[in-house]
Parts: sequence; C-alpha cells; structure tokens
Amino acid sequence: MRRVLVSGASRGIGRAVASIFAEHGDRVAVHYGANADAAEQTLKGLPGSGHIMVAGDLRDPNATRAIAETAVRELGGIDVLVNNAAVAPSAATRHAIADVDYAQWQQVWRQMIDVNLLGAANLTYAVTRHLMDRGSPGSIVNIGSRGAFRGEPDFPAYAAGKAALHAFGQSMAVTLAPHGISVTSVAPGFVGTERQETKLTGPEGDTVRAQSPFGRVGTPDEVAAAVFYLASAQAQWASGAVLDLNGASYLRT
Ligand SMILES: NC(=O)c1ccc[n+]([C@@H]2O[C@H](COP(=O)([O-])OP(=O)(O)OC[C@H]3O[C@@H](n4cnc5c(N)ncnc54)[C@H](OP(=O)(O)O)[C@@H]3O)[C@@H](O)[C@H]2O)c1
Repeated sequence: MRRVLVSGASRGIGRAVASIFAEHGDRVAVHYGANADAAEQTLKGLPGSGHIMVAGDLRDPNATRAIAETAVRELGGIDVLVNNAAVAPSAATRHAIADVDYAQWQQVWRQMIDVNLLGAANLTYAVTRHLMDRGSPGSIVNIGSRGAFRGEPDFPAYAAGKAALHAFGQSMAVTLAPHGISVTSVAPGFVGTERQETKLTGPEGDTVRAQSPFGRVGTPDEVAAAVFYLASAQAQWASGAVLDLNGASYLRT
C-alpha cells in the first residue's frame, strides 16, 4: 500500500488517476482547488478506505506546502506525488497574441505559470523533502502536454509552462535518483474529460478526433494507466522520461 497525493483530483484526469491507485489498494489524498463538491464525488467513488480530501490554491506557496503537510499527517506519509492540477486552455484563458490586450496577456501568463509550473515545483519541493527526511524512495509523475512540443498558438503560456514542467521533471530525475526517487512526465494529446465535452460534441469535434489516425481522442483512463505504471517500482528505470500519450497525433524526434 502506497500513499498517493494527486493534485487537481476533483475531476477529469486527476480523478481517473486517483481511481486507478485506489483500485490497486493504495490510499489517496484527493487534492482540489475550489470545487469541493466535485472532489467529494471523486472521494466517494474511490474503492477501499483511508482516502482523504485536501484543499489548497496552488498559486499560493504557503497553501501549497500545507497541502503536502496535510496529506503527510492524514495519510501517515506520501510515497507518490502526481502533479496533475493545471489551469487548462479554455475560452476564458485564450490569449492569442493578436487578440488580447497587454493586461489580459500578463494575467493569463501569470495564472498559468503560477499554477502549472510553480505550483508543481513547490509541491514537488515539499513532498521531496518529506521523502528525504524519511530516507524513503518514491515517485513523482508530472502531467505535461503534447502542446509543449507541438505548440499552442492560442495558449502560448500553457505550452511554455508544460515545456518547463517537462524540463523541471528531467532536472529532478537526475538530482533525486541517488535518493531512490524517480521523476517522470506524461505528455497527453487531446483527452476527453468533462471539461472538453462541449468541444467534442460541437462542430469542432470531428476535427479534434481527426488529429489522431485512430480517429478518436484519448481517455482519462489511458492517461491514468500510464501514470500508474510510471509511479511503480518496476518503472524506476524510466526516470527522466517524458512519455507521449497522443495516439500518434504528433510525433517528435
Ligand atoms: N484534457 C486534456 O485534453 C489534456 C491534454 C493534455 C494535458 N492535460 C493536462 O492534464 C491535467 C488535467 O487536465 P484536465 O483536463 O483533467 O483538467 P481539469 O478538468 O481542468 O481539472 C483541473 C484540476 O486542477 C485543479 N486546479 C486548477 N487550478 C488550481 C489552483 N489554482 N489550485 C489548485 N488546484 C487547481 C482543479 O481544481 P478545482 O476545480 O477544484 O479548482 C481541477 O481539479 C492538466 O495538467 C492538463 O494540463 C489535459
């Protein structure tokens, strides 16, 4: 039994990640930002017992450290961290350079970098120091994005933050290997989460599905399965990897 902290587990990919660990007998800290009702739904759906919920705004470094402290206290420790929470592309965060004014440009950059990069870096700090203090091995898996490689013309801060998250993970993989801690990232393409429902059922749906030669989008369960593998002891040798999960929609060299 491992103790697993999943950031942003109130819905979507984070919920699927929380579920797969719980299905395998692990205990999960379901982290959320603002949506307590949705996090409660995640928690209720988890098989097994001993799971907890923990709130905290990842834009706030003190709140971020408190998330890790709460999970350590209530689970009795953390063995696996999944950095999943993010401010994702949406109509509200679109910031194509030609279309937004300077104030909007700065606001979205700040929000995306604060949560998607600095939030993950600060949570990694807190969990890593806990593992080091215990002298225990562990795993950290970051949820990155295909956008880091392919570019996101309408969401440049998102792509830049995810590229930085991949690079951060690789630096940590090197520095934490002597401590028995593996650090990996996954880079999903389009995933059919609740958040993407309107896009997938609307006029753009077919175009999105056609990005992959499989003619479909990925599922949260497919991402969760990869995260579960990367967090396992058998995957220690994958440390430093950034795993593409995009149905051959974008092949990087
Ligand atoms: N879905 C895709 O197509 C896709 C593709 C590639 C990569 N990804 C990546 O996969 C991950 C999950 O995506 P998703 O589609 O499942 O996202 P989502 O449905 O938008 O969920 C995002 C999660 O992050 C949390 N969060 C957002 N801002 C936060 C903040 N300031 N403080 C604390 N928590 C915060 C949210 O919590 P609350 O709602 O409780 O505030 C929520 O649980 C993200 O890293 C995303 O970039 C997704």
